[in-house]
Amino acid sequence: MKTLFKNVKQLIQVREETLQPLKGSEMQELPVLDDAWLLVEDGKIADFGAMDTLPDFEEVMEIDASGKMLLPGWIDSHTHLVYAGNREQEFVDRINGLTYEEIAEKGGGIVNSAKKLQETSEGDLYLQSAKRLEEVMKMGTTAIEIKSGYGLTTEAELKMLRVIQKLKRNYDLPIKSTFLGAHALPPEYKEDKEAYIDLLINEMMPKVVEENLATYVDVFCEKGYFSLADTRRILKAGRDLGLTPKIHVNQFNAIGGIQAAVENNALSVDHLEVLYPEDIEALKEGETMPVALPSCSLFLGIPYTPAREIIDSGLPLALATDYNPGSTPSGNMNLVVSLACIKMKMNPEEAINAATVNAAYAMGILDTHGSITKGKAANLILTEAIPSYGFLPYSFGANHIDSVYINGKKVQG
Ligand code: NIG
Ligand code: FE
Repeated sequence: MKTLFKNVKQLIQVREETLQPLKGSEMQELPVLDDAWLLVEDGKIADFGAMDTLPDFEEVMEIDASGKMLLPGWIDSHTHLVYAGNREQEFVDRINGLTYEEIAEKGGGIVNSAKKLQETSEGDLYLQSAKRLEEVMKMGTTAIEIKSGYGLTTEAELKMLRVIQKLKRNYDLPIKSTFLGAHALPPEYKEDKEAYIDLLINEMMPKVVEENLATYVDVFCEKGYFSLADTRRILKAGRDLGLTPKIHVNQFNAIGGIQAAVENNALSVDHLEVLYPEDIEALKEGETMPVALPSCSLFLGIPYTPAREIIDSGLPLALATDYNPGSTPSGNMNLVVSLACIKMKMNPEEAINAATVNAAYAMGILDTHGSITKGKAANLILTEAIPSYGFLPYSFGANHIDSVYINGKKVQG
């Protein structure tokens, strides 16, 4: 089956090959092709070119894209999309003056979600999660990473990861799973953190690996959650079992997590709302991708990741949603791209690069996704008729998406 997009006003993010992330000033370049066609064959981008070079294809389904643009679908490299219920009451508590930390100290927060998830059946958890996945696909997300971490018992962590595995089986987009058993300390281990970490290392992780349920290992490296020493211990154990680190650092406090991540060849370090010069220096030493989560900053009212400092010091930057019930109950990558421009002073080219090429790197799929490149998956966003790509972040709160394609197939809805 072949599909031909004709009269495309602009193909966005057109690259010969993209094996490396975009760093520093490279992020300002967004290669485009005006007045173009693009051919999809067997779910892949088979070829593209300018309209005046359009070959005479036979047996193709034609889509007239006059006035519209095609870009690679958004890649969301950091989510907690599998969760049970919601935490709307904590949202109201924060409006009335409590902080995220105070709510967590009172037994709310992550352990609140864990309690709900433990009480939810695997089937129900799957249905709640699949609904969210379909919702974000319609908003242009065409590859996604999903973490565990709302189970906090061996049984419940495995339940979450099996739900992710079932989503992988039933949906066509790339899904990567991350084991985040070290998300919070369950109340029953309050007086004995070491015992929980022992359980995580000696029981949970081996089972996760045995059942092939995760690619990455994550730790919430933060005061009151997991210390630098805990983080190092968990990352090392994960690596020994073949799990690549991809971790939560510097959300509220910088406690050395970035350095530990770089030492352990982490694929990404995510959050970075608090960032010191030594963190930037550490990132320059490695290949670890910094990932900003601006919709989390919006929702919690915490600082935004200093994107300008990161990019202007020559580093790459990726963007993701952090979709979760506590700090970011939204999986809208369009809003993330807008917020990056509005609140983090990224220009539209930088923001689109951060949500496509660099996001693909942060998910470990840059060789197959993230750009309009021959041979890559036809995971695409077809926009409505818009004047320019900058109109996407400019129109914050709107999508301007006509349709979304995954492996060349239109997402229904
Ligand atoms: O990335 N920071 C840690 N984990 C999530 C929030 C989890 C929650 O509040 O449920 C985050 O923001
Ligand atoms: Fe997160």
